[in-house]
Amino acid sequence: MKILGIDTSCDETSIAIVSAKGDFANPEFEILSNIISSQIKIHQEWGGVFPALAKREHQKNLAPVLLDALKTAQILKEEKNIISSEQEEEIRKILQREQSLADDLLAIFANYSKPDLDLIAITTAPGLEPCLWVGINFAKALSYFWDIKLTPINHIESHLLANYLNTQKLEIKYPAISLIVSGGHTQIVLINNVKDYKIIGRTLDDAAGECFDKVARILDLGYPGGPIIEKISQEYNQNKYHISLPRPMLKNKNYDFSFSGLKTAVLYEFKKQSQELQQDLDYKKELAIEAQNAIIDVLIKKTIWAAQEYQAKTIILGGGVTASNILKQRMLDAINQQIPGVIMIAPDLILSTDNAAMVAATGFFHKSEVFPYWGNDKFVAKSRVDI
Ligand code: KG4
Ligand code: ZN
Repeated sequence: MKILGIDTSCDETSIAIVSAKGDFANPEFEILSNIISSQIKIHQEWGGVFPALAKREHQKNLAPVLLDALKTAQILKEEKNIISSEQEEEIRKILQREQSLADDLLAIFANYSKPDLDLIAITTAPGLEPCLWVGINFAKALSYFWDIKLTPINHIESHLLANYLNTQKLEIKYPAISLIVSGGHTQIVLINNVKDYKIIGRTLDDAAGECFDKVARILDLGYPGGPIIEKISQEYNQNKYHISLPRPMLKNKNYDFSFSGLKTAVLYEFKKQSQELQQDLDYKKELAIEAQNAIIDVLIKKTIWAAQEYQAKTIILGGGVTASNILKQRMLDAINQQIPGVIMIAPDLILSTDNAAMVAATGFFHKSEVFPYWGNDKFVAKSRVDI
């Protein structure tokens, strides 16, 4: 089957087409297209995602990204269609808050034939609500006009299932422990079998990626913080200032996290210095690297503890922060030393951060949970929701 995935949960407008076959235990996926239109440049100025701006960008980007995704997957066919006045009215009703997007979509419906697709998978939660709503309404309009089934997708689950799309296929053996870390979420999930999830730990305040972004903002290093700090740490190898930050939440042997205190510790450490030191790039780099080490140490320790307690056979990583090679390498070293034999699975780089291919793949696992586009209670944007 061919699945169209859509994700507008944060600052990437992404649409993908994935072909899927097999059963849930042994699915076979092929990414036919995975278009990601990033808004990083727009949000750089704010040092973080500005929801109203992000929403406007999604409204602008969705139609061209859709055409690109269909074309790349070679299922875009030009064909003139007549749209009835009732159809136009319904599309405008679905997209009542996004009339320019309705115009763009009506132009697509008028000029291209219905593509060969079996399912539309749309991220409904968690994420920035105004952004999610644009994607949801867009997906509803597609489902209505093309008469294609629609399924709601949890963004956190899709970060986890992104691993099924990796080029190197590794078998997941259960029980598995998953660490999902991104700009919006930090969770440790026990997976006893396909789709059988139990959250055993979560952040009590900021997410790990959010902490990277805030630290980079305090130090004026740019946005997003995670990849910038990782690059700094790969290029800089001095230790002139011997900075030491706390490793939060390691005293209690549970799986919860708290990163807002760490961010505050960075702020105090920075503010107490002289103007001169605050301008010293080497000092800022060492502070950022120590913050990275603190975040990564805590993530790894708690994941290994969980794997030990639940006798996990696999550790699965997911989310934007797992784009970090430093995190992946240190996690692998810790596994080899402390729990040898456990397999680590991490998403390919392009599948770590937000993308719609992971949403389409998740759609495969929920292909029987389809709802009509007017089933409003199923397609509600929610900022916070569990896997
Ligand atoms: O999964 P994602 O694209 O979006 C959300 O669902 O939040 O994750 C984005 C987050 C950002 O906070 C970014 O700083 C972080 O992932 N990130 C990284 C790296 N690449 C992205 N954090 C640490 N190291 C990286 N290389
Ligand atoms: Zn994400």
